[in-house]
Amino acid sequence: MKNYFKLLLALLGASTLMTAANAQDHSAEGAQIYTDYCEACHQIGGEGYEDIYPALKDNEFVNGDKEELIYLLLEGRAGMPTFISDLEVDQLTTIINYIRNSWGNTAGEITQEEMDAAYDEIAEEEDGFGPGN
Ligand code: HEC
Repeated sequence: MKNYFKLLLALLGASTLMTAANAQDHSAEGAQIYTDYCEACHQIGGEGYEDIYPALKDNEFVNGDKEELIYLLLEGRAGMPTFISDLEVDQLTTIINYIRNSWGNTAGEITQEEMDAAYDEIAEEEDGFGPGN
């Protein structure tokens, strides 16, 4: 039993190290948010699950139009949840900049002003935040 726990701890340690190595560490906070809120579906290294959860690594949508990406994170889409009630708006900025600049993605940064403007616009809509709104 004791050995089993040692092995488990060793495995946990190894997977933590692998996460850090794969992520290219754009920002420690971004990496943490990714681990806590995104990795379950989009996987370590942004590789996704084929035909279920899109890869974020080397993804045209992630690396493309900033505004569409901002709206996706604020509103969600189909099986992609909105994180508006779990994360602060500045954390959403952090996670967007993390996924646009990790795993070989080099799409550049969005600003907090761009994020705030989109947030305010959606907040004024009658149907509010949520997938398909
Ligand atoms: C419960 C599973 C789940 C979690 C957790 C999740 N996603 Fe997603 N995500 C999805 C699914 C499913 C899609 C595809 C939605 C669709 O079919 O339009 C998606 C799509 C996306 C896309 C669009 C990709 C494309 O090619 O259109 C981005 C970007 C994205 N997710 C980022 C994130 C980020 C960042 C997080 C963490 C804050 C996150 N996701 C957490 C399931 C998830």
